[in-house]
Amino acid sequence: MAILIKGGRVVTPDRDEMADVLIEGEEIVAVGADLSCPDVDVIDASGKYVFPGFIDPHVHIHLPFMGTNAIDDHESASKAALAGGTTTIIEMICPGPEDEPRVAFQEWKELADAGCCCDFSFHLAVVRFDELSKQQVRDLVSEAGVASFKVFLAYKGALDIADEQLFELMEMARELGVIITAHCENAEAIDAMQKQLLERGCFGPEYHEKSRPRCVEADGVNHLCAFAELTGAHVYIVHTSCQAAVVHAIAARDRGVHVFVEAVAPHLVLDKTHAEQHDFEGAKFVMSPPLRDAEEQGHLWESIACGEIVTIGTDHAPFNFDGQKDMGRDAFTQIPNGIPGIQERIDLIHTYGVCAGHINLQTMVDVCSTQPARIFGMYPKKGQIAPGSDADVVIYDPDFEGVFTHADSESRVDYSGYEGKIRKGRSAVVLLRGRVVAQNGQHVGGAGGGRYIPRKPSH
Ligand code: URP
Ligand code: ZN
Ligand code: ZN
Repeated sequence: MAILIKGGRVVTPDRDEMADVLIEGEEIVAVGADLSCPDVDVIDASGKYVFPGFIDPHVHIHLPFMGTNAIDDHESASKAALAGGTTTIIEMICPGPEDEPRVAFQEWKELADAGCCCDFSFHLAVVRFDELSKQQVRDLVSEAGVASFKVFLAYKGALDIADEQLFELMEMARELGVIITAHCENAEAIDAMQKQLLERGCFGPEYHEKSRPRCVEADGVNHLCAFAELTGAHVYIVHTSCQAAVVHAIAARDRGVHVFVEAVAPHLVLDKTHAEQHDFEGAKFVMSPPLRDAEEQGHLWESIACGEIVTIGTDHAPFNFDGQKDMGRDAFTQIPNGIPGIQERIDLIHTYGVCAGHINLQTMVDVCSTQPARIFGMYPKKGQIAPGSDADVVIYDPDFEGVFTHADSESRVDYSGYEGKIRKGRSAVVLLRGRVVAQNGQHVGGAGGGRYIPRKPSH
């Protein structure tokens, strides 16, 4: 039966008005005032916002990393995503240096096909780039709908890529019209800093930030942008944590480099004092790039408001405190890096971005839905409320007030990085291609139902 969403405030980057939304099957068929239709299920959206389904452009679910594996599976992570209003995720496929790209793609895709409840796509990390891998990368673009790759300048000896290979990969990316997403921190500098700190007896999580200060990230961004300038590749800098890094990216953009900048929720809401908490509590907040001084949050919000930063993801990377984070009790370098947040992102951005006056609602929708769809080749099927778009819709209650708590989490991870923080707003109803999949901040319905989104080269 058709669905009519009545009386809500429809907010997209190009529209902010009271309107009804009519859905037939998996698609939106009409948006306008006073729509009516016989034999229709009506959802009353009065007093609510009506947003396009949110897209998280940066999540980790299946993640073999630092001697362990992230604790979510696709079912738990995607239920968490839907509960929080995210209807599409782009997961990082992170194979090891020995793994063939094609085998890695199949492994991740099979896991997601089996369990994912929301729609999904992938960025494929290029860690190995020999002749076989080069051919497989080409084949994955033409045959499997992979249109974005990931490189790590960090994580020496585990995931990082040599400059010679990075250059060649970026030339190939330009030729194929695909985008390179990049974790920008100088791996060699971090390695040297980590060794120095450990030799001095600095073992706790509070030393993580000191081992990779802002200049290490800024240097990584500058390096990537120089290669983009030389090769003509389009690049997307993930989880940018500080103004110094943004400045390099924008300088490159001003020189004509095609560079997009992403922020992630932890850097916008948390600061490095969280990683300095006693009794190893700080380990819950060890991620890379690290949480910074609180003043950086203001800089990041300003960059979002003025369009320098164009997307907000989560970098959801769930490692349990018990049994995983505590692998690093004797040395911060052994703490699995990552903070969970796939469920909390939209409510965090609404509370600490919109309600705090840093950004407006249209910007929130743009950076959390429309821009990820545009940059990664899913627009206007995703990221828009218009006839012909997928009926991925979030009916959002801005008046809900509460606190973030682990008890509400659909993720399997054993803590919340946002425990006890004020929360304003909640998804009242979430639709994925015309199906109600979450209500009042909880996933409803069964497992599965997510669909792989193959993508085409974007430029
Ligand atoms: O600390 C982080 N960000 N963990 C996940 C892996 C990555 O670098 O994105
Ligand atoms: Zn990263
Ligand atoms: Zn990440």
